[in-house]
Amino acid sequence: MSSHREEAVRRIAAPEIAARKGGQPIVCLTAYTAPMAELLDAHCDLLLVGDSVGMVVHGLPNTVGVTLEMMILHGQAVMRGSRRAMVVVDLPFGAYEGAPEAAHANAARVMKETGCSAVKVEAGPAIADNIAYLVQRGIPVMGHVGLRPQAVMVEGRFKAKGKADHERRRILDEARAAAEAGAFAVVVEGVAEGLAREITAAVDVPTIGIGASAGCDGQILVTDDMLGLFDWTPKFVRRYADLRGEIGRAVAAYADDVRERKFPGPAEIYFAKAG
Ligand code: KIV
Repeated sequence: MSSHREEAVRRIAAPEIAARKGGQPIVCLTAYTAPMAELLDAHCDLLLVGDSVGMVVHGLPNTVGVTLEMMILHGQAVMRGSRRAMVVVDLPFGAYEGAPEAAHANAARVMKETGCSAVKVEAGPAIADNIAYLVQRGIPVMGHVGLRPQAVMVEGRFKAKGKADHERRRILDEARAAAEAGAFAVVVEGVAEGLAREITAAVDVPTIGIGASAGCDGQILVTDDMLGLFDWTPKFVRRYADLRGEIGRAVAAYADDVRERKFPGPAEIYFAKAG
């Protein structure tokens, strides 16, 4: 008889994602809540608890205000809702760019308190040393190059990257440095197809594209974008549903029913027992 432990579904781990380089494309989406993680789990190899949660769920103007506590809370929810997909939690702005010891304390806290399998960091200049420090201490790390949303205050706005030659070279170097430091995969955001293919050829770990063409080893989207929960979506998002429209229609129907005293009806109320 097999034990409960043996019957448990084993989660996809970092080495399995790394081994998919050049193979079957890696399917990734963001998740922030347990019910959504439950819906996505069977279809995805990797669920990212992205710091985009600050904008998508908490109404922040960008990801700079996201805290470690927010990431931990949403990481715990996504772990509860999923069983199979690898769960990666973003380290928020300010949690990993300074002293390696501080980056390690924050990353270890995220892993201990959520049970997630890895963290993601935006791999700008000088982050490679901290990636190596974390990986050497048992923390799998995913890098993120190209458009780096946490750098929005320096950039002034979210804009595609790598148009100028010096920028192309810098992004390529950052991707190489993240991979050489031990990152098991690198997210490539908001770059033209040529650069995405160049990065994919230059690093020996999978690239996960978002707005970076089908030339990457896998793809990720913000789930709420691809489900059509916003009235505006970036150019690189394909909308697979119109949940904003669906929700609007459902709520309007509910409001009409309440106003016309059609809800609740006989099937939706309790009756006292006779006698
Ligand atoms: O925070 C996020 O959702 C991300 C993805 C867009 C890659 O970093």
